[in-house]
Amino acid sequence: MISDKEDVLEISRHIWDGHDYLPHIFDKIMNDCSSHIFGAEVNGKIMGVANLRLVEEGKIGWMEALRVHPEVRGLGIARKLTERLVDEAKQLGVEKLRYATAFDNDASLKLASNIGMKKVDEFAIRWFNYSDTKDHNIIASQLQQVSGKEFYKCLTGQSKVDTKGHIVYDWKVIDVTLKGLEDLEESVEYWVEKSGEILLSASIGILHYSNHGSAWDFTIYASNRETFLSQMVCHLERMVVHNTAVGSCIVQPEFESILLHEFKFSDIDDTTKMLLLERQL
Ligand SMILES: CC(C)(COP(=O)(O)OP(=O)(O)OC[C@H]1O[C@@H](n2cnc3c(N)ncnc32)[C@H](O)[C@@H]1OP(=O)(O)O)[C@@H](O)C(=O)NCCC(=O)NCCS
Repeated sequence: MISDKEDVLEISRHIWDGHDYLPHIFDKIMNDCSSHIFGAEVNGKIMGVANLRLVEEGKIGWMEALRVHPEVRGLGIARKLTERLVDEAKQLGVEKLRYATAFDNDASLKLASNIGMKKVDEFAIRWFNYSDTKDHNIIASQLQQVSGKEFYKCLTGQSKVDTKGHIVYDWKVIDVTLKGLEDLEESVEYWVEKSGEILLSASIGILHYSNHGSAWDFTIYASNRETFLSQMVCHLERMVVHNTAVGSCIVQPEFESILLHEFKFSDIDDTTKMLLLERQL
């Protein structure tokens, strides 16, 4: 309903200083048959919302877009919505639930632990302006942009990169499957660095458009410092190619210090850690 959408947009206005991504994907979610969106009503108005999106051919339920209006927080609305998503997932025959959240979002972590979700992976995330990084002096090796099929072959062949069987991008995750990576190919770029047949680093980049302009978001998996630097430089160059001034990078925790010291990201305080949580159903 249109009034429901208005209520959800009103909730979003209070989330992350109005930078919530939900308004940009709301219509898509509503028209997407793999999404199961639930609202919580208080006095005839939607005051809470959550979505269960089925991915990997319905085997995985992705819990996302959980939002409660600040006026009614702390009343158990998110708990009820979360439990509703778990029930729905069980009814739909989902095998595994997944959820990503920030390490310092205490309410969100409490909700996840209440439904038996456990941490399976962790990443550092930084948002930055291209202009903050331009002083670096790094000469990078050449990377190759590859298709979804080639990316799959690299990740499942001889590799020094451990992605734990999934790829994180843009606060979402896909399993390393041929179909999954091929399906995503249209909306992302895959980049690899190889030595002969051995994969040294891999990354995924995605261009986003919002009311605030475009942003280049990328995730790097690297086997060592040099391969990480090459990937970073590659993605800074992609920002120039895509003419975008704003970026966000998701990196394995061991590379966070390189962002701080070699790319001077320490001057930027907008940082967090992303936790990936899972529960087998
Ligand atoms: C996270 C959010 C959805 C929680 O909504 P809520 O309706 O206030 O949450 P609930 O009242 O159901 O509380 C859920 C649990 O978290 C706990 N909790 C709530 N706020 C908390 C806080 N600030 N710190 C620690 N724990 C908290 C509650 O005690 C409860 O645990 P319990 O059931 O074991 O007592 C809400 O704060 C929100 O919309 N935040 C912004 C968007 C967001 O962060 N979404 C989640 C990540 S995508």
